[in-house]
Amino acid sequence: MDGVLRLYFGESNQPTPDYIKRAAIEAMDSGYTFYTENAGLLSLREEIAAHYLRLQNVALDPAREIVVTASGVQALNVTIRCVLDPGDEALILTPAWPNGASIVAMSCAKAIEIPQPLRGDRYEIDWNALEAAVTSRTRLLVYTSPSNPLGWTATEIDQDRLLEFSRRHGLWLLADEVYDRLWYETETLGTPVPSILRKATRDDAVMVVHSFSKSYCMTGWRLGYLIARADLAAQATQLNEFIVSHAPSFTQRAGETALRDGEPELAAMLHRLKSNRDFCIDALSRMPRLTIPRPEGAFYLFPRVEGMTDSFDFCRRLLLETRVGLAPGVAFGVGGEGSIRICYAAGMTILEPAMERLHKFLDRMEA
Ligand SMILES: Cc1ncc(COP(=O)(O)O)c(C=O)c1O
Repeated sequence: MDGVLRLYFGESNQPTPDYIKRAAIEAMDSGYTFYTENAGLLSLREEIAAHYLRLQNVALDPAREIVVTASGVQALNVTIRCVLDPGDEALILTPAWPNGASIVAMSCAKAIEIPQPLRGDRYEIDWNALEAAVTSRTRLLVYTSPSNPLGWTATEIDQDRLLEFSRRHGLWLLADEVYDRLWYETETLGTPVPSILRKATRDDAVMVVHSFSKSYCMTGWRLGYLIARADLAAQATQLNEFIVSHAPSFTQRAGETALRDGEPELAAMLHRLKSNRDFCIDALSRMPRLTIPRPEGAFYLFPRVEGMTDSFDFCRRLLLETRVGLAPGVAFGVGGEGSIRICYAAGMTILEPAMERLHKFLDRMEA
């Protein structure tokens, strides 16, 4: 459809910054056109370790605990496939970006979705439901913080309990932290959400997934990484060989530059995102029927629409009648129905008319 105000996607509308593009061109010119190690260039893994120490105060062994992957989704793919046998079960906190559950299914295992209840304006973890869902086949617990689509971030208490729960039941804990830099709760923007790795020991069965897509506007480059216990990282490295072998070499070099020089651009982007978020919350809070959970991170809002039971139909009608494109909550698994996801990583020339049209659409529903 032409002329759609697109807020259904999961990426910023900003192109990759020039300094990253230049780094890729320079890398190609200086010979980074060959295969690299399956775990990625050691120079990038060292840069990731330095970055982690600087931002999270966590010391990682770049040779044994970090694997570069051709995207965050590829990091999810290898981590999940490494720990599940056919017939195993994985607990997944939902609403969530659906790829985790799909990768579990592709491993011939079963995804058990545990919806996060909304209490007041904050999502929580349903610990009783988690306990009740554990069986002799449960191997893995997956959560995303900051969350797509909720914007929720795990608190330190949540992290302690997730770790304790996983240790007690002998599960792997997979934390999707691809939105860790997009956090709006601190005085100075740019402080990452504290990683679960601050709490876990390097011997814990913990895996963390990262991506360059969101923080550096590099969605099309396909670059991510995983951090895991050394034995799992070694297996993931082998599995990488049979899927894509490794991430493109010049992309990896550009990733090094992004980590080293990216803070000023990132800070500018975070200011724009925070002001977009606040603009949308303000606009939504004046519309009928909506409950707006408070999003602490990522770049999504996930308002609940009172009385709406078919979010797909709602979004289709919104699109046809107003040319505003939102993602239906049902796409994000159990607990998602009844809500709509709005990506606010867009310019004001899109957000302003989109909010106006949504308001009128909801007014018409009311009438
Ligand atoms: C929660 C979450 N994890 C992982 C990814 C994967 O990102 P990419 O494959 O672009 O690195 C996304 C992308 O939307 C996401 O929302």
